[in-house]
Amino acid sequence: MLVLGHGINHYTDPNGPMYYKGMYHLFYQYDPQGAVWGNIVWAHAVSKDLINWKIIDPAIYPSKPFDKYGCWSGSATILPGNKPIILYTGIVDENNTQVQNYAIPADYNDPYLTKWVKPDNNPLITPDIGVNKTAFRDPTTAWVGPDGYWRTIVGSRRRNRGMTYLYKSKDFMKWTKAKHPLHSVANTGNFECPDFFPVSLRGDKKGLDTSVLKGKIKHVFKVSLDVTRYEYYTIGTYVLDKDRYFPDNASIDGWNGLRLDYGNYYASKSFFDPSKNRRINTGWANESDAAIHDVEKGWAGIHAIPHIERKKVHLNNKKLKKGDQIEVKGITAAQADVEVTFSFASLDKAEPFDPSWDKYDAQKVCSQKGSSVEGGLGPFGLLTLASSKLEEYTPVFFRVFKAQHNKHVVLMCSDASRSSIKTLLYKPSFAGFVDVDLADKKFSLKTLIDNSVVESFGEGGKTCILSRVYPIIATYKNAHLYAFNNGTEIITIEKLDAWSMKSAKIH
Ligand code: FRU
Repeated sequence: MLVLGHGINHYTDPNGPMYYKGMYHLFYQYDPQGAVWGNIVWAHAVSKDLINWKIIDPAIYPSKPFDKYGCWSGSATILPGNKPIILYTGIVDENNTQVQNYAIPADYNDPYLTKWVKPDNNPLITPDIGVNKTAFRDPTTAWVGPDGYWRTIVGSRRRNRGMTYLYKSKDFMKWTKAKHPLHSVANTGNFECPDFFPVSLRGDKKGLDTSVLKGKIKHVFKVSLDVTRYEYYTIGTYVLDKDRYFPDNASIDGWNGLRLDYGNYYASKSFFDPSKNRRINTGWANESDAAIHDVEKGWAGIHAIPHIERKKVHLNNKKLKKGDQIEVKGITAAQADVEVTFSFASLDKAEPFDPSWDKYDAQKVCSQKGSSVEGGLGPFGLLTLASSKLEEYTPVFFRVFKAQHNKHVVLMCSDASRSSIKTLLYKPSFAGFVDVDLADKKFSLKTLIDNSVVESFGEGGKTCILSRVYPIIATYKNAHLYAFNNGTEIITIEKLDAWSMKSAKIH
């Protein structure tokens, strides 16, 4: 977690993440004047390891007619010759009219890329007739086709239809709108912060540069939907000669689709890291605290990024009968990284999946079947950020149901409803279903705990949930970590490794 709070300020979307000459750059929407959204600039942090960060001066801030009222989200592209360029949305008037601008480093030899220039031929892209001027933003990292044309998409909507308009350019300066949007979906509302990139089907877990268009690949199309404040993606095919994206049949497009994260995670952006051949996604873990508390704390919003680990404990082959709760001792439970594999002997005790439940509404099922509601196969999992008397705890747990035709459904919950005795908080029971093959009767959970963050990855990240929680008792040394089972089927902790995490340095 990159906690960017210092002084009085408000952080939201990550912008233009990139790797350049041995340094990672992360920009982000930032209000230099207060802990509530407004006066938006691109703040700038640099890092050699994505863990320890140095915050330097804002890179892009309102100063020209084409961005006088705000510098909103956008992306970086590395042009040939290793030349970074940023595309971002400028707000040009009090009516929130949006255009797309570019900025380039003042000095390519400065490893921090401290100063950015916004040339006078901006804006590059303006909304034409028929485009909604106040919903026309967040350009993506551009990719180049074999025809030599660069392409970028801009998020928008036509009435209630989410759109990503496609723009093409030979020289990155003169952009022409393509006849068709790259992709659009009915009844979603505005598409914010789209992301579009190739993924390899080779199973080697290597990320691909955004301009890779050939080989055994698929494309991922991601958007943030303003209405639900969640992120959705599909996997599909990018047909280059038509410049259109078609999601696979099994990939549901829109509100019921795949979620990148089932918790507090929004406006994420990915980039290709050529130094490690990986694609990294980072999102904004918005606060669930009331705005009034954000103002008291003096900061709001963090970005989800891993920490350094130290000190390890290990458990294996521990049985958890119904009602058992064992403490994982020997680590700092307020800042820890936990990896656990659970197994069980049989699926027979799985409770029936109530046909009246909406198969897309895991969150509702979780709110009814909390961690203390006894079951058959589950609930079992971890109680994180728990006070010793359990006045406060945030359980991350699984529950297996038997659906029709002997199919099983695995529910994963990260339930903040008991996370804090503090009132005036949003304490949701976030949840998602996990697509897991139960043939070997086991599954894994990785949870990163960091004071106000519980970020969990079910089955190697098939389902991710980030919860923001604000315990008052279960803080620092008074936070505990337990494994528990409240189902009749005995659960075995095959293996549990936990590490304390060191705080990262933020200068
Ligand atoms: C998403 C968003 C973007 C916009 C930015 C403004 O959180 O609304 O669409 O560019 O925030 O700060």
